[in-house]
Amino acid sequence: MIWNLGSINADNFYYLRHLPAPGETIAAHDFRQGLGGKGANMSVAAARAGTRVMHIGAVGPDGKWAVDRLLEYGVETQHISRIDTATGHANICVADDGENSIVLFSGANHQITTQMIGAALAEASPGDFLLMQNETLGQRFAAQTAHTLGLRVAYAAAPFDAEIVAQVLPDIDLLVLNEVEAEALEKTTGTRIDALPIDDIIVTLGAEGCKWVSKQAKSVMNFPAYPVNVVDTTGAGDTFTGYLIAALDRKLSMQDAIILAMQAGALMVTRQGTADVIPDLKDIQDHGF
Ligand code: ADP
Ligand code: NA
Repeated sequence: MIWNLGSINADNFYYLRHLPAPGETIAAHDFRQGLGGKGANMSVAAARAGTRVMHIGAVGPDGKWAVDRLLEYGVETQHISRIDTATGHANICVADDGENSIVLFSGANHQITTQMIGAALAEASPGDFLLMQNETLGQRFAAQTAHTLGLRVAYAAAPFDAEIVAQVLPDIDLLVLNEVEAEALEKTTGTRIDALPIDDIIVTLGAEGCKWVSKQAKSVMNFPAYPVNVVDTTGAGDTFTGYLIAALDRKLSMQDAIILAMQAGALMVTRQGTADVIPDLKDIQDHGF
């Protein structure tokens, strides 16, 4: 089972003729609300990859729909707290020429307390996974608590945050990050990725696939990507990570887990949207990679 301490966001898309200038008011000609946030994306991906996932998070009074949607997608929601701060959201203006501008508000995601995390992890079992990213609070407490309880700690260092990374590094068993985040990590730690004291590190490389740095095997293994027609790259990394951890939780080998995660990530870039359009196992099978 996976315990995912993660963000829940409303992605509010406003479609406009052009982006508003200072002082300008423009009527949007279309609006769409999607479920997003790296945490929610990874929970949905893990559920669609066929494993049990308990989301640890928080939403505001306006967040019932997001919790309902997660539940519909097969994510366990008993540890999503309802609090008095607005649900995290991204207000995304999309102009007809494709230009966009985004306002992010972390809201309830930054009101998660150590009590909430502790109450959830008290129900976890040794061998379960704790998964986390950087869009919440409490990562250090969660990592330490999980480690003490015998969970495996998996961490996606996204969006990159040097302070949180430094706090959790000693308790991480598995690290997933993209090329840009890997470079930032090497810079802040002054250590090469393959010299970090972490059992398994996966660096995703977009259309180039990914590489697996294994401490035990003392090796770096490269995996070429599955070629697809790119429509929208948002959510590819989150889909990859959710699938990877779910596959490991289902006892697949690291190689097999990486291959499945890459197939899910590849399919995800052929789709417009975030959590709502993450492929399930049948989609992957039907695609016939
Ligand atoms: P992030 O969204 O965090 O930057 P990546 O872009 O590296 O993550 O994507 C994660 C994984 O999804 C990659 O390792 C790859 O397997 C798959 N993927 C991403 N982009 C493509 C692409 N253009 N073609 C095929 N696979 C892709
Ligand atoms: Na996409």
